[in-house]
Amino acid sequence: MKAKLTVHREFSIGETDKRIYGSFIEHLGRAVYTGIYEPGHPSADSEGFRNDAADLVKELDVPIVRYPGGNFVSGYNWEDGIGPVENRPMRLDLAWGTKESNRVGINEFAKWAKKVNTDVMMAVNLGTRGAESARNIVEYCNFKGGSYWSDLRRSHGVSDPYNYKLWCLGNEMDGPWQICHRTADEYGRVAAEAAKVMKWTDPSIELVACGSSNARMPSFGTWESTMLDHVYDLVDYVSLHIYFANREEDTPNFLGRSLEMDRFIKTVAGICDLVQAKKNSKKTVNLSFDEWNVWYHSNDADRQIEKWTEAPALLEDIYNMEDALVAGCMLITLLKNADRVKVACLAQLVNVIAPIMTVKGGKAWRQTIFYPFMDASRYGRGTVLRCPVTVEKYDSKEYSDVPYLETVAVHNAEKKEISIFAVNRNLNEAINLEAEIAGFGDLRLAEHRLLCHKDLKAVNSAQEEKVKPVVQQGGSIEGSDGSKLLQASLPPASWNVIRLQY
Ligand code: AHR
Repeated sequence: MKAKLTVHREFSIGETDKRIYGSFIEHLGRAVYTGIYEPGHPSADSEGFRNDAADLVKELDVPIVRYPGGNFVSGYNWEDGIGPVENRPMRLDLAWGTKESNRVGINEFAKWAKKVNTDVMMAVNLGTRGAESARNIVEYCNFKGGSYWSDLRRSHGVSDPYNYKLWCLGNEMDGPWQICHRTADEYGRVAAEAAKVMKWTDPSIELVACGSSNARMPSFGTWESTMLDHVYDLVDYVSLHIYFANREEDTPNFLGRSLEMDRFIKTVAGICDLVQAKKNSKKTVNLSFDEWNVWYHSNDADRQIEKWTEAPALLEDIYNMEDALVAGCMLITLLKNADRVKVACLAQLVNVIAPIMTVKGGKAWRQTIFYPFMDASRYGRGTVLRCPVTVEKYDSKEYSDVPYLETVAVHNAEKKEISIFAVNRNLNEAINLEAEIAGFGDLRLAEHRLLCHKDLKAVNSAQEEKVKPVVQQGGSIEGSDGSKLLQASLPPASWNVIRLQY
């Protein structure tokens, strides 16, 4: 199969915000306990954080991590996690039916974030709590000193404020599964009041309002427009969440799901713009896609977990090759929408639907989805280029006109590099790619990184890394300085990063 692509320096969609390579750690399952934190583990540092897991997080170069939930945050008392550890309460977490020891809280998590060179995107509880606890946590984290909560932080050994910039106003408040779920009007009101006092406490913060939990919620659309009527002037982003599954074992359909993600983004952006128009406002509200991934492999196992245990193995999806392709298509979709999506979080980071797994007392290892994320995070920063593509399309059970080639290019002017990200959705045929590349002068093919496996169900484990990137040989680039022709072969069912330098 053939595909033709045009990459032109001037066809810009927008600059990437580095925060689109964010991720998420929730107090859920083994994400924190025996994931990032395991005192007594052979690789643990003096604070109890696992160096092996931290090293893999650093490999992904994650600029921001959302914390502490998720569904968990809607029942969380953040004050439980500060002060002397021996005084911290053991709580029932109603979101996941587990026990939370609070051994890790705001200050421990901040130390871990520093260790892995990441920023924190904090979420506040707008389920069981409201404006007061939300403004107090902003004061605890961001106020310099000389007030009750900031002095309490200082008494906990943290003299400088964290100055966390990005805050989520609750989590998935449209979902009946949420602790103290609310209607759109109820949420809009509480979020508006919380936003107001949070920003009064620290005017420099940015706020994310909860959009729909997914695009298939019955209230999708009305939820966004109703709650935005209340909060538009006070917030900076609306959140989007999506998880994909292949329960019916229909891979062509599964690979088409990123089209739904694209439609979701465009619809929510449109609703933000509608509210902007209704308010005759100059302000644009952008998007925070703060939960995205594949999630379904662990659903049956989770139903067997005994309730009220501490840090059980919940949501431990083991990802295969086709999941990595879907993750790749989702990353490309985020890039293609770089003009509106300013924050995105791969949900989650360690053990819980995660690219990184740890064995309690044992190894940390990389799942299949680790690699497309690492590639995009490393090579996908700069100006995203709109790349017209000519390729055959297919229809699947739920999607029409799915292009066999999903692709986008990113130009990093500082590094003098262009990266073409491409997923070949064709399960049987290679794609012979011809890309006309204009506006960069002389170019050389630096590397073609490839992730594929003949068995789409192949998985990695602590023992064996079956799915890992290799360097694909055989591509070429030639032509005059003004316009170059790149030729490359993209194997069936593959994730590719073609890196060009000038
Ligand atoms: O990431 C797992 C869960 O998925 C989160 O807690 C929740 O926000 C979403 O439903």
